[in-house]
Amino acid sequence: MKKAFYITSPIYYVNDVPHIGHAYTTIACDMLARFYRQKGQDVLFLTGTDEHGQKIEKSAAAKNMQPKDFVDNISKSFEDLFHKLKISHTVFARTTTPEHYKTVQEMWRRLKENDQIYLGSYSGWYAVRDEAFYSEDEIKDGKAPTGAPVEYVTEPSYFFKLSEWQEPLLNFYRDNPDFIAPESRRNEVIRFVEGGLRDLSISRTSIKWGVPVPDDENHVIYVWLDALNIYISSIGFPHNLEQFEKFWPESLHIVGKDILRFHAVYWPAFLMAAGLTPPKRLFAHGWWTKDGEKISKSTGNVIDPVALVDQYGNDPFRYFLLREVPFGHDGDFSNTAFIHRLNADLANTYGNLVQRTLAFVYKHNEGKIPTPSDLSPEDQELLALPAQILKDMEKLMAEQALSRAIERAWEGLFEGNRYMDIQKPWTLKATDPSRMATILYVLCDFIRQMAILTSSIVPELSSQILSQLCIDPNHRHFDALSTQLIPETPIPEPKPLVQKII
Ligand code: MSP
Repeated sequence: MKKAFYITSPIYYVNDVPHIGHAYTTIACDMLARFYRQKGQDVLFLTGTDEHGQKIEKSAAAKNMQPKDFVDNISKSFEDLFHKLKISHTVFARTTTPEHYKTVQEMWRRLKENDQIYLGSYSGWYAVRDEAFYSEDEIKDGKAPTGAPVEYVTEPSYFFKLSEWQEPLLNFYRDNPDFIAPESRRNEVIRFVEGGLRDLSISRTSIKWGVPVPDDENHVIYVWLDALNIYISSIGFPHNLEQFEKFWPESLHIVGKDILRFHAVYWPAFLMAAGLTPPKRLFAHGWWTKDGEKISKSTGNVIDPVALVDQYGNDPFRYFLLREVPFGHDGDFSNTAFIHRLNADLANTYGNLVQRTLAFVYKHNEGKIPTPSDLSPEDQELLALPAQILKDMEKLMAEQALSRAIERAWEGLFEGNRYMDIQKPWTLKATDPSRMATILYVLCDFIRQMAILTSSIVPELSSQILSQLCIDPNHRHFDALSTQLIPETPIPEPKPLVQKII
């Protein structure tokens, strides 16, 4: 049986149209999903929308719309964006489906049965923007630590006995040192939990837009308890346990650093309290700023993913986000950095290698893959390089070191360019055509292998390169690295693949 891999992006609030943050998390997940598919694993990739809660109820009311109509509309704009970005998700999950309601209510029942829920009354601060409760000591200058405005609420509420989970959580983090990455985030979470946990308010009576509490219709379930359950409702809990049991032990949640606490503290506590196991791993990535400033609609300092893709194309946009900043760190988006990165890596390094090789083969080898004769040690070394790079990439991908995996692939492309500069096939046409054919064959086969390795990074470009080499779509997975190009295969006239941005 194929090994399972379950990757999730957060599900996005539909109070507003999609922005760069949404695109970023989803693209990172997409790179991982494509990589493990190429490795031959059975990949389930979830993204979707988080559609309940006060923030959305308010946004719908401001537009004079019924919440359901409002969320249908915006959820569609997320689906459209992911379609445009050619995201390869297998599930686009929404919290407003009957199936998801059933899972959330089932979880509630289990928590209740296990004596984890009691009725009380909540008096304290709530930030609608974060959909989060904050304690008195967290409020500074009348704002949440995230800068979100807060309001004081007093209402009847059900509570989850989170305070009982401090020890079990700390034990879980200790026994599963790879559960939270990067390391600095893990330490942050541990410090937070060591500081003590208060019981968590998990229902609201002042809003209506949510999943009703079973047997008490005055309450709707707190939006985070509702939303987190999407990760299990979408893979079959409790209605398709076979699928759930296959994928859940292989789960990886990619989240932004701002929502780590919900995923690293509340979520495993809810799951353990309901008798289920926590996910396998969480990775928290950093935030993008624009020209050094926080991205904010009010200052107009936004990055529109759609506009960038329209102007430069999908691969350049994706490549920049994935390569520019070590995954887990904050990053800054500037047009200068964007253009510089694309020209250097995609046009000069990758495009050039492919373009000069294929154009030369087409012109001087009658448009056919050359036939090699004896391979020199340098030829053999170059042909063996992609398999070594793959090994390194596998290790880096297992740590979600996405930009380092990309860097490693690009080291291979530098080697390809270096080999060509040293071997100078263009000097051999008259003097040693057989050696020239060998060099060109080695380059073509090297490029084929490299395009397989870059397929999860720049899928469109890689696929175009593989098509120019007439590689069957079924021979583009990692096992195909060890196959070889068939000499004398006719290739189409090469077209320029990467445009330099001027
Ligand atoms: N609905 C919750 C998640 C529930 S998951 C069970 C939510 N949604 S969100 O739409 O507000 O945010 C989704 C993601 O976008 C988060 O991972 C967040 O970190 C990310 N980003 C939002 N702005 C961002 C940047 N400026 N830069 C990078 N990512 C950012 O939270």
